[in-house]
Amino acid sequence: MHTVAVITGAARGIGRGLAERFAAEGMAVVLADIEEEPLANLEADLCAKGATVLAVKTDVSNAEDVENLAVQTYDTFGAVHILCNNAGVVCSRPIWEHTVADWEWVLGVNLWGVIHGIRTFVPRMLAQDTECHIVNTASILGLVRGPGEGIYKVSKHGVVTLSETLADELAQKGSQIQVHVLCPGWVRTGILDSVRNRPDALQNPTEKTQLQQTIGASRNVRAEMEAGMSPVEVAEHVYKAIQTGTFYIFTHPEHKTWIQVRMESILG
Ligand SMILES: NC(=O)c1ccc[n+]([C@@H]2O[C@H](COP(=O)([O-])OP(=O)(O)OC[C@H]3O[C@@H](n4cnc5c(N)ncnc54)[C@H](O)[C@@H]3O)[C@@H](O)[C@H]2O)c1
Repeated sequence: MHTVAVITGAARGIGRGLAERFAAEGMAVVLADIEEEPLANLEADLCAKGATVLAVKTDVSNAEDVENLAVQTYDTFGAVHILCNNAGVVCSRPIWEHTVADWEWVLGVNLWGVIHGIRTFVPRMLAQDTECHIVNTASILGLVRGPGEGIYKVSKHGVVTLSETLADELAQKGSQIQVHVLCPGWVRTGILDSVRNRPDALQNPTEKTQLQQTIGASRNVRAEMEAGMSPVEVAEHVYKAIQTGTFYIFTHPEHKTWIQVRMESILG
């Protein structure tokens, strides 16, 4: 029987790195993403390398889509051993200027996407009663404070506390599901262009371009991202953390000082 890994936001960036890493280990990979073309491209690339692949177009902010992902996965493979709730988007401006649509879009993907993943897969994994791993992608921004990326930080702090609670409750229950929370620093991906996946119903028509410029201009973030880690390296960190049972997965341990600064400011 295959070890089965489900990855959301699998078509590009960190998700693609995870899919390639797991497939290289001989796992069956279930690729979930909202973007059809890169999803089909990755499916073809992995199949050409002999991997066992199921690609399911999924909007993680939609409960029915995530339920369909689980149904298709269990119908095909009968089990899930690794679930990576990884899909994420960003938009940035002063926190009081964000529209309701901004909040709904970013929280919908980054926080509700993980919530739907947990609600939908954990009961099935508990019934399965085998060793399983859940990797929720947060960010170093889910552990620190400072100006900028307000909604994104709200969502990622949410993913951290959701993951901590999930881990503690599953441990209390004595289950075989281990939880991990991935907190990367800059990784070279397409996240600064996430507006490409923003649904029509949640657009700010007149501000779309301006929003992207705001992200690209502030603190020269594009240059910082270009200097970031490769998704392949991030996937290696995740793979090792699964093997060693590490809960907080840091790709840039030097950022831990930012966490210390926040904690000291809280403790006084
Ligand atoms: N790149 C970084 O520097 C960085 C740092 C910390 C955390 N992260 C987190 O890593 C995760 C992956 O992002 P990335 O950097 O690889 O970005 P990316 O844009 O390259 O990849 C994100 C993937 O998610 C998909 N996606 C977007 N909306 C979706 C939806 N509604 N449903 C399903 N899939 C959807 C996209 O199509 C894309 O394939 C995100 O949660 C992000 O917040 C990234």
